[in-house]
Amino acid sequence: MPPQIFGKGTDMADRVVIFDTTLRDGEQSPGISLDAAEKLEIAEQLSRLGVDVLEAGFPVASPGDFEAVRAIARSVEGPVICGLSRTHLGDVDRCWEAVGDADRARIHVFISTSPSHMEHMLKMNEAQVLAATRAGVARAREHTDDVEFSPQDATRTPLEFMLEVLQAAVDAGATTLNIPDTVGWGIPWDFGALIQYVRREVKGDYVTSTHCHNDLGLATANSLAGIQAGARQVEVCVNGLGERAGNAALEEVVMALNIRADQFPGVEIGVRTEELARTSRLVARLTGYPVQYNKAVVGRNAFAHESGIHQHGVLADSSTYEIIDAATVGQTGRQIVLGKHSGRHAFADTLERMGLRVQGDAFNAAFARFKELADRKVSLTDADLEAIVAEEIGGHVDDAFQLESLEVRGGTVGTPVALVVLLRAGDKLEASAEGDGMIDAACKAIRAATGVDGVLTDFNVSSVTGGVDALGDVIVQLDAGGVRVSGRGVSTDVVEASARAFLSAVNKVVRVRRRQQVVRQPEVTP
Ligand code: KIV
Ligand code: ZN
Repeated sequence: MPPQIFGKGTDMADRVVIFDTTLRDGEQSPGISLDAAEKLEIAEQLSRLGVDVLEAGFPVASPGDFEAVRAIARSVEGPVICGLSRTHLGDVDRCWEAVGDADRARIHVFISTSPSHMEHMLKMNEAQVLAATRAGVARAREHTDDVEFSPQDATRTPLEFMLEVLQAAVDAGATTLNIPDTVGWGIPWDFGALIQYVRREVKGDYVTSTHCHNDLGLATANSLAGIQAGARQVEVCVNGLGERAGNAALEEVVMALNIRADQFPGVEIGVRTEELARTSRLVARLTGYPVQYNKAVVGRNAFAHESGIHQHGVLADSSTYEIIDAATVGQTGRQIVLGKHSGRHAFADTLERMGLRVQGDAFNAAFARFKELADRKVSLTDADLEAIVAEEIGGHVDDAFQLESLEVRGGTVGTPVALVVLLRAGDKLEASAEGDGMIDAACKAIRAATGVDGVLTDFNVSSVTGGVDALGDVIVQLDAGGVRVSGRGVSTDVVEASARAFLSAVNKVVRVRRRQQVVRQPEVTP
């Protein structure tokens, strides 16, 4: 056993609050831009997963983020809904406007405390940062008694000053003190000692929290060290998304606490681990960030065995090389019996059994796509259905353009050419284009038909399941004059999947531009 270094109140028989920030810090990953419907869909899945606190966004960052946070606060049940805010009083009030309708709402106030951030970004001295902390936290407490405070770049902040700021925050009413390792500077034993120090030195009634970035690949290790030192909240992102190299991965922290419970005596968490794989797949599809094959817990190879010796071992007894039972994290690849003869009821029942809530136009669109694909593919797996539903969520109702048909010609001889027919408000738009390949030709034809230009900054094709009849799942990222969006498309044919992904990105660009015309406000990021 490693040394038990729990500080204040060494009672470990308590819960570690799982604070998910996929929709806030995770969405700050370069190129990710989720619209309100997509954020809502992920939030509902996070609630099914059983996270305790859901940081839904940074309401002052943009009108779109404000709307998304408010929609989540109004409809997602279960977790505490949290919004991030700078210490500015106007930001705090705006944050409350966004989260205040939730059954349980939290305001998360932050300000930078490291010399580097104070000098180069804030242009504030220590006295000013202390004053801003007191004012921001006190204002948040006027709205709610659940207030979190973070000294940004805590691990590069001189200890005495950090403690002073934290004490000021608690005295002003903060109930959670989060210690962000903003730039991934921490080393597990050092970070653990820091948490222990905070708990010993800062007086008052508060929960200590970790927020670890992964610049040195240590985010999960640092978070666990924090918990071992007595932190009772851990901030994490699904698939380890987040600024730069990301945040501690939710699935890794949860499964480490679960599988190595012997190292965390008495610690409890409330996550339903069987939902981990599905949550990971949904987040990957909607964000356009694929999960690396060998990613711990949720990667497609996390339970695959290649060498003969390993295969022999797991066939004899899975415990030889597997420390996690795949079923406990939802990695089953189960086949369902839906096919081309299945009707709306069977489809609706299956989605409900899978915990996917899809209604109205989104349901009709998903069902139509399901029938179309079932005609081409003999059987559809749970993962296929999730892909279809994910493709249809978000915006389909106000999609400016729909794909009516696509014809492509290509090969090793001659220039590939594509003819696309789109529908816009009942009108047919036709365009054809040549390209470097069939996918390029299809995207160019869509560009010509819609008039929306943009640069593809990322293009990723994967198969939803294994096998030669697997659905192709294409995720693209498009930059249209500074509007950065992702799009996805699913089909048995990768050229069609690519065209669908491109068109879904184009539709998002149109929606974002419409929204930008309605409200124009300054953009800020933490
Ligand atoms: O990394 C960080 O410091 C943050 C804060 C806003 C908590 O994300
Ligand atoms: Zn962060």
